[in-house]
Amino acid sequence: MGGGETGSRVVCLPGDGIGPEVMAVAQRVLGEVAADLELEERHFGAAAIRATGTSLPDETLAACRSAAAVLKAPVGDPEFDAADVRPEQGMLRLRAELDVYANLRPATRGDVDLLIVRELVGGIYFGAKGVRDDGTVFDTCEYHPSQVERLARRGFQLARLRRGHVTSVDKANVLETSRMWRRVVREVAAGYADVELEDMLVDNAAMQLASSPQQFDVIVTENMFGDILSDLAAAVTGGLGVAPSASLGDGGPGIFEPVHGSAPDIAGRGVANPAAMLRSTALMLELAFGRATEARALESAVDAALGSHPVCRDREGTKKRRDRGRLQVE
Ligand code: IPM
Ligand code: MN
Repeated sequence: MGGGETGSRVVCLPGDGIGPEVMAVAQRVLGEVAADLELEERHFGAAAIRATGTSLPDETLAACRSAAAVLKAPVGDPEFDAADVRPEQGMLRLRAELDVYANLRPATRGDVDLLIVRELVGGIYFGAKGVRDDGTVFDTCEYHPSQVERLARRGFQLARLRRGHVTSVDKANVLETSRMWRRVVREVAAGYADVELEDMLVDNAAMQLASSPQQFDVIVTENMFGDILSDLAAAVTGGLGVAPSASLGDGGPGIFEPVHGSAPDIAGRGVANPAAMLRSTALMLELAFGRATEARALESAVDAALGSHPVCRDREGTKKRRDRGRLQVE
C-alpha cells in the first residue's frame, strides 16, 4: 500500500458505521479486477475525530489531493450529532477542497434510467450561517453564476452522451438564486442545440419523480434540492442501499461514494449490503481510470447478486426475501 504514482493511487476512506465493512468488500474486488491500483487507507469521519480531533486531518487531505481517485465509504456517528466537530463537516470540506462540483447520481431500474447532476460545493450547505443576537438561527443559500454555469455545462455534456434531455430543477417562483440559476442554465443551453432543456420547480419535480420517473434523463439542480431528490430517485429505483455516486471537478481526483449513510444500527453485524459501494467502485474504474470493461463486469456482478441472492436480514434480524426493492442499508 501507498507510495505509488498519482496515476494509480486510490485513497480509501473507510469512514464510520458500516463504512469499513463495505469498504473491505470494495478493496477485495479491486484486488481482483484492478490489482495494479495502489490502495491506501486514511482516517476520515468520526474515526478521525476520535484519533486526531478533526474529521478531515491534514495528512488525509494531502493524500486525497495527490491521488488519482478517492474511494469513500459513508461517515457519520450519532455520538457526534450535536457536537461542534462533526464527521459531516469533513465530508463537505473534502468536497470543497477538491472542488468536486458535479455530483453524479445515477438511478436505474426497469424503464427508469436517470442521472441527477447535483451541484455539490455551493448553496445553502456552504453559505453564511450562524445565530443572531435575538436568537434567530440562519443558513444562507448563495450561488455565483459561474458555479451554475460549470454545473450546467457538465449536465449538458452528459445529456449528449445519453438521451439528450436536461431537466433543470429550481424554485424560481420564490428564490433569487433559482431565478439566476434558470437564466444561466438557459444561456448554457444555447450552446447545446441538440439537447432539449426543460425547467421544473422542485416541488413538482419531487411529485414527478415519485409518480413517473421514466420521463427523466439528466436532472441538473442545486446542492440541497439534489440531496433530497437523489434519495427519492434512489427510493424509486431499488433503495438507498444500491445507489452510487461520483463527484467530479475539472481534472483533479474525483470522490466515489455510496449515497447512503453509515447505518450505525446495523454496523459490525456483517449484514451491510455493499451494492452501492461496489457500484461507486465501478464508477471509479470507469470515470477515473477509463476501465469501462472492468466497470461493466462489476456492475453486472452486482446486478446478478441482487437478482439471485435468496435472503437477507432486515433491521430486526429476521430473514426476508431480498429483491432490488428491499435492501437493508438506508
Ligand atoms: C449525501 C449526504 C451528505 C450531503 C451529508 C451527510 C453531508 O446526505 O451525500 O447526500 O448532504 O451531501
Ligand atoms: Mn444525502
